[in-house]
Amino acid sequence: MKVPGVKLLFLAFIFIHIRRPRVCNGDTIADDYADDDTKTSSPPPEIDNCNGVFLSYAFTSRTKSLPLLKNVSAQPWTFDAMATILNAGTIELKEWKMYIGFQHKEILVSLTNAVIVGSGGDFPAAVGNGTTIAGSPNTDLKTSIDTAGDYSQIAVQILIKGSMFGMSAKAVPMPKNISLANDGWKCPKNTKYKTYMHVCCKKDKKYKAKSIDSQYMTRQNGDLTFMYDVLKSYEGSYEAQVTMDNNSPIGKLDRWNLTWEWMRGEFIYSMKGAYTPRMDYSDCVYGLAAKYLSSIDFTQVMNCQKRPTITDLPLVKANDTKIGKVPYCCKNGTLLPELMDPSKARAIFQLRVYKLPPDISQKVLYPPQRWNITGYLNAQYTCGSPIRVDPTEFPESTGLDAKTYAIASWQVVCNITKPEKKKSRCCVSFTAYYSDYAVPCPTCACGCDDTDTNKCNPDRTAMVIPPDALLVPAENRTKKAKAYAKLKHKEIPRKLPCPDNCGVSINWHVSSNHKSGWTARLTVFNWGDLPFVDWFIAVELKRAYKGFENVYSFNGTKTLKNIKNTLFFQGLKGLEYLIEEKNGSKPSDPKVPGKQQSVISFTKKNTPNIQIEEGDGFPSKVYFNGEECALPASFPNSGHGSRVSITTFLFISIATFLLNRFN
Ligand SMILES: *[C@@H]1O[C@H](CO)[C@@H](O)[C@H](O)[C@H]1NC(C)=O
Ligand SMILES: *[C@@H]1O[C@H](CO)[C@@H](O)[C@H](O)[C@H]1NC(C)=O
Ligand SMILES: *[C@@H]1O[C@H](CO)[C@@H](O)[C@H](O)[C@H]1NC(C)=O
Ligand SMILES: *[C@@H]1O[C@H](CO)[C@@H](O)[C@H](O)[C@H]1NC(C)=O
Ligand SMILES: *[C@@H]1O[C@H](CO)[C@@H](O)[C@H](O)[C@H]1NC(C)=O
Ligand SMILES: *[C@@H]1O[C@H](CO)[C@@H](O)[C@H](O)[C@H]1NC(C)=O
Ligand SMILES: *[C@@H]1O[C@H](CO)[C@@H](O)[C@H](O)[C@H]1NC(C)=O
Ligand SMILES: *[C@@H]1O[C@H](CO)[C@@H](O)[C@H](O)[C@H]1NC(C)=O
Ligand SMILES: *[C@@H]1O[C@H](CO)[C@@H](O)[C@H](O)[C@H]1NC(C)=O
Ligand SMILES: *[C@@H]1O[C@H](CO)[C@@H](O)[C@H](O)[C@H]1NC(C)=O
Ligand SMILES: *[C@@H]1O[C@H](CO)[C@@H](O)[C@H](O)[C@H]1NC(C)=O
Repeated sequence: MKVPGVKLLFLAFIFIHIRRPRVCNGDTIADDYADDDTKTSSPPPEIDNCNGVFLSYAFTSRTKSLPLLKNVSAQPWTFDAMATILNAGTIELKEWKMYIGFQHKEILVSLTNAVIVGSGGDFPAAVGNGTTIAGSPNTDLKTSIDTAGDYSQIAVQILIKGSMFGMSAKAVPMPKNISLANDGWKCPKNTKYKTYMHVCCKKDKKYKAKSIDSQYMTRQNGDLTFMYDVLKSYEGSYEAQVTMDNNSPIGKLDRWNLTWEWMRGEFIYSMKGAYTPRMDYSDCVYGLAAKYLSSIDFTQVMNCQKRPTITDLPLVKANDTKIGKVPYCCKNGTLLPELMDPSKARAIFQLRVYKLPPDISQKVLYPPQRWNITGYLNAQYTCGSPIRVDPTEFPESTGLDAKTYAIASWQVVCNITKPEKKKSRCCVSFTAYYSDYAVPCPTCACGCDDTDTNKCNPDRTAMVIPPDALLVPAENRTKKAKAYAKLKHKEIPRKLPCPDNCGVSINWHVSSNHKSGWTARLTVFNWGDLPFVDWFIAVELKRAYKGFENVYSFNGTKTLKNIKNTLFFQGLKGLEYLIEEKNGSKPSDPKVPGKQQSVISFTKKNTPNIQIEEGDGFPSKVYFNGEECALPASFPNSGHGSRVSITTFLFISIATFLLNRFN
């Protein structure tokens, strides 16, 4: 095939290429074209023989850049190169993508007529492992036939500027290989010269485009799932809907914050049913968006961060036609288990996303990655990557008996993870009627700051304390703990163990044990400065579970979907609030935590051999609002203070009195 215009182009290019003084740092690079006479006198013959897409890469020059180093392999160099892509075939090439196999720790600083795929178009870009570039602003290459050989429509020259490292001054650092990265094309081995390489890629006849059906994964189960459904796709932007479903019977979110990462320079133009607390378009103005999308009024843009934080709207915005009015939206960040309220187990919000070149086409859609959802004292979730799934179906909005479909759907599955040691956010203490002391929460159960550990020992087991000490904040327990230790003739360490530092603690008290049954009393304390609404506690009792009879001041549920041996307690109507910590009545009094308490009764009919004191009477797992709480390592025992003195007796009486006050 003859393409005269292109020949001219290549002649021009090679001419310039050769005439350029390539003197670098005093060393003249051997002119490779000099020893290849045919190349200088005529364009590469391969271009005539190419009925397909012709790619080339030519190294232009490099110069040492600062700092000048003795170590050859650490020396930075500035380099220039030129890549070309030319449609010499008969098929239009849409959205061309070219792979360049860089291999010398190259860092690209600028490209003309192209952008780096996947970097969000950002420079400098480390491409030392190879990179793929795509056309920008023009993404397609027409054929010579359709354009009467108009070079500007069938070929692109990409001037590459960047830095690289290493290689002696004589060497010519070429990429490993170049190829066409579009699906359905095949490239043979590159033809390589010292500073120039080229390849002619052809349509792969065997390649079959994947059929639309059944190419996607099936939806997975998880504790919390997200759907990222693209509802409408436009040139340069799209509208997506995010649906969160809480599938775990013990999962909960309060004041949720969702974050994700845009991988390709996208930004959030607007949102309904949620918002970004940081409304800031400066990253667009100073970033690539302003460069590529000059027609957009960025002052209207909601957020341009690469990693935005998204949060729920308050209830009052539910009917706001501008920012609310999305089904299941606007719950002030609360997501409850289905058991508590099915309408609050789901949240939905919608957003308009703008894309940057080369992803302008309606078909090019990428979901954000690295999802993370957090809340105020909730279960902690770990989320997987978005997985493409079959398009979600929606009922038709005007009420016809029809279905509409998302353009593309992705699912993100998140599972609840057990908190690491010393990183819980709630903890449990044990007490029992037969013991005069409490086994407190583990030391640093909810973490210890470095500053704290100057004053206390983060590794020492918590000192046992008289039960009434559980009612006061940690800072007021020391005195009681010391007094108790003295009474029991126990050693008092010079550096006391650190407190638990938990915002919520739960006391499990075995309050009676008789032939036919036994009772426990559960108290939950809120030491934080925010109240909990719709709180719940889930308690796993391995052997005792079967004997559960009744809970008096909570609303209890015995069977949970998918979770065994676990009792679920929530506040009765009107008691859904667990209030925050308050000041004592006098300024000198210790602070008073928010509390809720109930007695729980068990029968021994189904569990005749239960060993309450040996541990069967204590929970094996406790969750508060879905967060797994840290448990003590031991149980209270009656032997500890075997000779009950009058003081001990007093302690127990006071403690029982105080705890009962809240019953
Ligand atoms: C030279 O630089 C390379 C890359 O930075 C480094 O790995 C190597 O250790 C250096 N060699 C010397 C002799 O400093
Ligand atoms: C190249 O790949 C190696 C190994 O996978 C990785 O450690 C390195 O960070 C990559 N370099 C760049 C510039 O992406
Ligand atoms: C280019 O090199 C990379 C890395 O060695 C290899 O994976 C790829 O298949 C090569 N492409 C071609 C067309 O040879
Ligand atoms: C929103 O409108 C619905 C239906 O009209 C109504 O039931 C609901 O109370 C309204 N919510 C708010 C926050 O105004
Ligand atoms: C909504 O949440 C905020 C904190 O995020 C809280 O201050 C406010 O009281 C909540 N409003 C309602 C109606 O629950
Ligand atoms: C107990 O919880 C269930 C389920 O959430 C609810 O239907 C019921 O009304 C609650 N009962 C009371 C007394 O609060
Ligand atoms: C999610 O974000 C929180 C708060 O920024 C952080 O502590 C946590 O490690 C993140 N989780 C993941 C899986 O990245
Ligand atoms: C959610 O994000 C906002 C803004 O970044 C922050 O102020 C708030 O503390 C976060 N809430 C939670 C529960 O992490
Ligand atoms: C979440 O849990 C489900 C079922 O327990 C499991 O199939 C899935 O692989 C888990 N996903 C992640 C991201 O851990
Ligand atoms: C409780 O601790 C606080 C802070 O250390 C202190 O100011 C207060 O006096 C203590 N109250 C009592 C009754 O010990
Ligand atoms: C609680 O007491 C502190 C000082 O001890 C004071 O600053 C604060 O305002 C008080 N809070 C309330 C709600 O009274």
